[in-house]
Amino acid sequence: MKMIEQLLKNDISDLDDIKTLLEARNPADIDLIRLKARELLLMHCSDNVYFRGIVEFSNQCDCDCFYCGIRKSNHELKRYCLTSEEILDCARFCLEKGYGSMVLQSGERSDPEFIDFLVHIIIEIKKHTCSNTLREGLGITLSVGEQTKESYQRLFDAGAHRYLMRIETSNPDLFKQIHPAKQSFTKRIQCLEWIKEIGYQVGTGVMIGIPGQTTKMLAEDILFFKKMNVDMIGMGPFLIHKATPMKRFEEQVESSKEELFIQSLLMIAATRIVLKNVNIASTTALQAIKPDGREQGLEFGANVIMPVLTPLEYRRGYLLYEGKPCLDETASQCASCLERRILSIGRKVGYNQWGDSPHFKTKSTKN
Ligand code: 5AD
Repeated sequence: MKMIEQLLKNDISDLDDIKTLLEARNPADIDLIRLKARELLLMHCSDNVYFRGIVEFSNQCDCDCFYCGIRKSNHELKRYCLTSEEILDCARFCLEKGYGSMVLQSGERSDPEFIDFLVHIIIEIKKHTCSNTLREGLGITLSVGEQTKESYQRLFDAGAHRYLMRIETSNPDLFKQIHPAKQSFTKRIQCLEWIKEIGYQVGTGVMIGIPGQTTKMLAEDILFFKKMNVDMIGMGPFLIHKATPMKRFEEQVESSKEELFIQSLLMIAATRIVLKNVNIASTTALQAIKPDGREQGLEFGANVIMPVLTPLEYRRGYLLYEGKPCLDETASQCASCLERRILSIGRKVGYNQWGDSPHFKTKSTKN
């Protein structure tokens, strides 16, 4: 107890100290870490929680990641891609609800038709969502994987201004174990560098509880976020999808859900404590373990929530892992239940704002 208390008095950036935070299991220690994360969040960001409506607009994917339910080799899945009109309906919904931003996420495709389609969508969303409150229209975040630098540039020029791409793990050997040989760690980093150079706000993150991952690796992940100087973080527990090669770890993962959950919350808190002014998402995967998982993520230092706006009829086609929540709730139902939960933990919703990462703003003023 004393040790964590002492540790939290200073700035933390040392690998062993981060590891100590991640290994805390005594409830009193965990409480101290949670309170420190909250204090730093309020000091460096605000008490606003920002909503990003996420549209999982296509499950077509050219990748074969060993953990992911929409991997190319999953032939049990019906593949879909929303029409522009369906995506625009989601954008209108965001505007109506006062969500300042939306996230467009899909499986990874990099053919020219796909990029052309996305460019068109981004332009249309911007055209339809400029209003008195949001003069530049909805903020648009992309999460469509590895692309060429030219494609990233085209998408940025069309109006997207944030990009999310998880490194999944910053440990190159572990990365290799969960991806086919042709997906490379160095390429992923190259893509993140391009995205940064172009001027996007950059988000990355990892899965927590990958078989073979140690707390030292997780502590290194946090130092990786720092070294990459990213603006946004999204992390969540690794969960099993039965139609993937990692199904073989099912028993191991099932029997350690409670541990996985606390490890995920501590990753959020430790990231807040070390990085301070980044935006951190409390991800849906947390809610897959506990019904109030996302609220708990907020209490441990996260400040972004991504309500799922994907039309109901497509949601079962976008199961990255099992137990994904909100399969039967409409976007409106999700929104009102989320707001209630946020108010219940003493925070508020940052309506009608992009809610950019304060970290990005400090970087921009330094340049
Ligand atoms: N468990 C947890 N997260 C997963 N993702 C994909 N598959 C799984 C899984 N089985 C996450 C990856 C990816 C994001 C879109 O979804 O981290 O980057």
